[in-house]
Amino acid sequence: MKNKSNLEIRNMFDKISQKYDFMNNIISLGLNEFVKTQAIKALNIKPNSKVLDLCCGSGDLGKIIKKLQPSCDVIGVDFSQNMIELARKKNPNITYRQMDVTSLAFEKNSFDYIVMGFGLRNIQQKNKALEEIYRTLKSEGQFLHLDFGKHNIYSKIYDSIILFLVKFFTKNTKPYKYLILSKRNFLEPDELIEIFKFNKFKYYTHKNLLFNIISYQIMKKNKI
Ligand SMILES: C[S@@+](CC[C@H](N)C(=O)[O-])C[C@H]1O[C@@H](n2cnc3c(N)ncnc32)[C@H](O)[C@@H]1O
Repeated sequence: MKNKSNLEIRNMFDKISQKYDFMNNIISLGLNEFVKTQAIKALNIKPNSKVLDLCCGSGDLGKIIKKLQPSCDVIGVDFSQNMIELARKKNPNITYRQMDVTSLAFEKNSFDYIVMGFGLRNIQQKNKALEEIYRTLKSEGQFLHLDFGKHNIYSKIYDSIILFLVKFFTKNTKPYKYLILSKRNFLEPDELIEIFKFNKFKYYTHKNLLFNIISYQIMKKNKI
């Protein structure tokens, strides 16, 4: 698969934003909220924490964080203006900023927790993004990464189901074909953990869900 440029990725998300939540529920077979809630709960976020939701899209992870821990100060970041507008409408109590994850306009050691759901797969400069995440996390802060997991038989069956559903529910199948290819080309959870360690993070925990189709990893910044 030819790698998509940042601009192509941003345009793609701008275009699909209006149908994003609807299609997300379809392609997650209704398990979107369950999976995201499980991952956020694993962080055990403390009251009054500062949390950054990267590649926030329509704002699901931030919304769950606010629901579980209303005293938290949550900031959502995405480079798609349309996604940000959607997130703002859904979550008026969350601050949203349009920026590229590979160049975050935040001071070092700013956040207690940084979360990223289904985002890193779309970023070409992954090490640069991870460098920024590490820089902006506070000492011993936690980074939660959530995305598709192992490339197993269930994952292949799931891909076929997605393609079938997408053809049924939308005329524009291109973004979902990209989703399947990017998912197949993405690193598996064990490989991701190695990449995170390479970028200075300390392993904390990880969990595979739904027959290992989905996985989250939690990494920590070292004590400084
Ligand atoms: C698949 S969506 C995930 C949205 C949300 N986190 C969720 O779990 O539903 C990926 C999002 O990442 C954003 N994105 C991709 N690359 C980015 C980058 N380099 N900087 C900021 N946002 C980016 C896209 O605009 C899109 O909204």
